[in-house]
Amino acid sequence: MLKTFVTKPIPGNFLTDLKNQGYEVSVGEPLEKVKGYEALLTLLTDRVDGDLMDLAGPTLKIISNYAVGFDNIDVTAATERGIVVTNTPSDEVNVAVSEHTWALTLSLVRRVVEADEAVRRGAYKGWEPDIFIGKTLKAKTLGIVGLGRIGTMVARIAKGFGVGVVYNKRSPEPEVEKELGIKFLSLDELLKTADIVSLHVPLTLETKHLINKETIAKMKAGSYLINTARGPVVDENALVEALRSGHLAGAALDVFDNEPKINPELIGLENVVLTPHIASATREARDKMGMEAIAAIVAIDKNEKPENIVNPDVWEKRRK
Ligand code: DGY
Repeated sequence: MLKTFVTKPIPGNFLTDLKNQGYEVSVGEPLEKVKGYEALLTLLTDRVDGDLMDLAGPTLKIISNYAVGFDNIDVTAATERGIVVTNTPSDEVNVAVSEHTWALTLSLVRRVVEADEAVRRGAYKGWEPDIFIGKTLKAKTLGIVGLGRIGTMVARIAKGFGVGVVYNKRSPEPEVEKELGIKFLSLDELLKTADIVSLHVPLTLETKHLINKETIAKMKAGSYLINTARGPVVDENALVEALRSGHLAGAALDVFDNEPKINPELIGLENVVLTPHIASATREARDKMGMEAIAAIVAIDKNEKPENIVNPDVWEKRRK
């Protein structure tokens, strides 16, 4: 049974179940202690590069990442070493992240957080016609950058609000377009057209600072930016500048360039909503993530192919 290393406890009984099945599981040790382990269950806050894999040594067979995104792992280095890498995508996570995207969008355009803060500080003195005026979502255009599983679900929910959807991704999706009545646009066109831009791309060399000074300048004046993907997709300094100048009406961010540090300039702005990387934090999503992360380790132990391998090329040459 694979000797398993887990960097932090995860919600639910998954690790206890694994122990009850007879696995030796170490929880909560620093990554430097990984030597000699065969399975590594990582969180997105764990940086796993080739050196760390070598520190674990030739015993390491699987890195099971407790997240959908896997930008914290050097997948090429893992493949070179014959190590299988898995992640935890599911409908439950798609639903959680897309619902949070809409929670952020509504909070931002209807100024929920600002209004809540005013009420708490005792500033509410009775109904007034001109306080906290926001925008109506209906008939606005949402621009989805990255129409993967989560982006598609965000588009589905848009229908309920009467929000039109345009999207950009590497290759258009004619079937989804037909089904949801959405339209493919180049990134430039999308930025020019959308009243709200929502990011749903993975973090790669190509998408790092995809939203920067130049691309923000192309965004429609008075539009909003929502980021539930990965912080470094947005150049935060450029964003702050655009929020200050009023070119952008607001931004809602669940992820940050340098987590857990938050750019102090963002904290000082009223037209932003900030949440601490909780888009997938629902009981349902966490349960599914735990189940999948453990299932991948058990599969490798049984010499079976796990469901969510992110480096499928490794399979034939994997460590046994
Ligand atoms: C993910 O799964 O990638 C989220 O960012 C954290 O759950």
